[in-house]
Parts: sequence; C-alpha cells; structure tokens
Amino acid sequence: MSGGIAAYKACELLRRFTESGHDVTVVPTEAALEFIGAPTWAALSGNPVSTQVWANVHEVPHVRIGQTADLVVVAPATANLIAKAAHGLADDLLTNTLLTARCPVVFAPAMHTEMWEHPATVANVATLRERGVLVLEPAEGRLTGVDTGKGRLPDPAEIFAIAADVLARGGTHVQDLAGRQVVVSAGGTREYLDPVRFIGNRSSGLQGYALARAAVARGAEVTLVAANVGLADPAGAKVIKVETTSQLQDAVVAACTTADAVVMAAAPADFRPVAPSESKIKKSEDGSSPDIKLTQNPDILMGLAQDRPNDHIVVVGFAAETGDADGSVMDHALAKLRRKGCDLLVVNDVAGGKVFGSEENEAVVLAQDGSSVSVPRGSKTALAHVIWDRVSESLQA
Ligand code: CTP
Repeated sequence: MSGGIAAYKACELLRRFTESGHDVTVVPTEAALEFIGAPTWAALSGNPVSTQVWANVHEVPHVRIGQTADLVVVAPATANLIAKAAHGLADDLLTNTLLTARCPVVFAPAMHTEMWEHPATVANVATLRERGVLVLEPAEGRLTGVDTGKGRLPDPAEIFAIAADVLARGGTHVQDLAGRQVVVSAGGTREYLDPVRFIGNRSSGLQGYALARAAVARGAEVTLVAANVGLADPAGAKVIKVETTSQLQDAVVAACTTADAVVMAAAPADFRPVAPSESKIKKSEDGSSPDIKLTQNPDILMGLAQDRPNDHIVVVGFAAETGDADGSVMDHALAKLRRKGCDLLVVNDVAGGKVFGSEENEAVVLAQDGSSVSVPRGSKTALAHVIWDRVSESLQA
C-alpha cells in the first residue's frame, strides 16, 4: 500500500484475504505508515512488515516477495506510486516488489480528481495498462475533504472480488478485453402506477453485477446500468442508476455508441401504465378496483440488435424461459434468438422460480450460427466468464 488516507480501507481488504485463507505480506511505503502503523499490518497479516530493503537482508526480500507472490494488489495506489511504477523506479521495498513480480498485478488507485485527471497520471496509468497491469478506475463520490468526484478507493469487498477473480484464473488470466468498452445492464425496472406503487419483477441484479466484475477483471472499460439493485458498486466499473425501462433504454443506448459489446442482463418491465397517477391512488368506498391501462415498453435488446449503434458491437441477450405445450425451453430460446436478432442469447430455465436471487446459475449460451455452450450449475461469475469468452471470440473474429 502507498500513502493515501484510503489506507484505512485496506485493513478490511487485508482481512478479506487472510480470512479466506491467503498468506499475505503487507508492503507499505514510508508514507503509508503515516496513516496506519506497521503493528496494525503485522497483526492483521500475521507476517512481518517492512518498508525498505535493508531489513532481513539475508532473505533478499526485495526480490523474494515479488518472485514468490501469486498476486500483487496495490491498494491504495497513489499518483506518486503509479508514477514510480510506470517509470520502473526501485527505491523502496514496494517498488522493488513491483519490478520483480511475475504474477498478475492489480492497482486500486485513490487520489483527488485533479490528480487522477492530470495528464501525467493519465499517461502513467496508460503505460501500466499497456504492460498488463490491471489498473482499476477509481470510484466516484466523497473525497477526503468536502469535495466529491472521481478518485475514491472502491469498496474493499469489491476490490477483493476482482482480485480473487484474477487470482482464481491464475496463469490463464488474460486481459483479453483490455481496450474494449462494454455495457452491462442489471436488475429489474419499475414502472410507477403512482408516486409510491410500481410494477416490478424479481431480478436481483446478481448476474449483471457478476458480468461487470468479470469484465473489469479482464481489462474492459465497463459501464453498468443498474435498475433498482441493492448491491455494492463493482470496483472499476462506471455505474449508472436507473429506475424505469425508459431510463434504462436511454442510459444503455447512450453508452453503446462506441461500445464493443452490450449484455442485456436486466429484466426490463415489459409493460408500463399509460397514465401514471401524480397522486397516490386511493381505495374507493364501494370496493371497486382502479382501471389501470398498460402499454408495452420498447424492447431495448431488439432495438440494439436491429438498429446497431456501431458496426462492430456484439449484442448479448438473456432469455428466462419455461417449457410449455408449445415447445421446450430450447425451442422458445431459438425462436427468441432469431426474433430479436442478437448475436448471443444466454438461456435460463426458470421453471419453479430457479435462478432469481440465487448465487448460482446454469445456462446455455446460444449463438446466431447455431452453436451453443452449456454451462453447468455453478457461480454466476463462472457463467459470466463463459459469456465473455464467447464475446471475446466474436470480437477477435
Ligand atoms: N429485454 C429488453 N427490453 C425489454 C424486455 C426485455 O431489452 N423491454 C431484454 C432483456 O434484458 C433480456 C431479453 O430481452 O436480455 C429477454 O427478455 P425476456 O423477458 O425473456 O424477453 P421477452 O421478449 O419479454 O420474452 P417473452 O416474449 O417470452 O415474454
């Protein structure tokens, strides 16, 4: 860790690593110790802590720590540390570790907006990314002073999720989406009947958020359009919050102009009231019910597939299907793929309420050329990676 006030959040990140069984060596800069002292890092990690290369020289720590690591995470990464790393300086234990590490390296920057946007930092971040370092975009929000903007350290649990994903993929980890812009929609839209009531659905947003995290881990620039989701923002993703299908459509279409891929994991409400009431609808004295007229919402996925925002975008839809007298789940899915015209369709069998709110998913990823990949029951992250594998293949083709 380098010397930013966000070092206090790194304590939680460290705990998440140790509590999930990882052996962590904390390598702070001298400046980091101004914020959190070495005893805290030593106690939480269970390993000795040093900032410079002159301690325990017989163990050659300036090369050993980097050489033996499976993953290096720099959180918080200050503008100064990013500059030193980009230029290959090696004047303390952390910068030496970065030069000797051959494993994946993740930077979670935290600084004031002006520093993040300064051309020097922009150039240094670009240099690190070109070399394969995963530099997460900082979050937006309240900064150390009274100001707000881009530059916050993302939620430690979310940095951990990305780091754990990179670590789990180990040697196979590739940033095949580096330099790509992707858009993911997640959650379920609400259509208001009056100021307090709405028509909604059971989508939790978990699959969309897993897709966003997986894309960040693979190096993509991610815009996540989230409809009514109660989950923490994924580290490194730009999150746009919406409520209604119309807002979701506006946000997704705007983000897709230059995007390389869009995955519509959201469940937009298919219908909305024709004339939502401006005041709360009252119960009537005579027990009669209000007559609420609905109209159909636009199909955002079909719009993107048939009126493409650019000539290279890969359009991915989801289909929640149940088999019935008219056909099997796959019959309905194939018909939907052809009708909507998207490139890939991720098919879930939702008979009996499966999938909703669950940490797991199982699906078939269907392509326009008729090929399909079956993804057995497993984490939503695992399914997300299969979807990005297919998207990545399409982009390379
Ligand atoms: N979708 C969309 N806009 C809508 C409704 C759905 O973009 N107004 C997208 C979803 O995000 C999903 C895909 O379409 O990627 C399939 O959603 P689904 O609800 O299964 O499709 P429907 O067309 O509503 O299916 P059906 O006709 O079977 O109800």
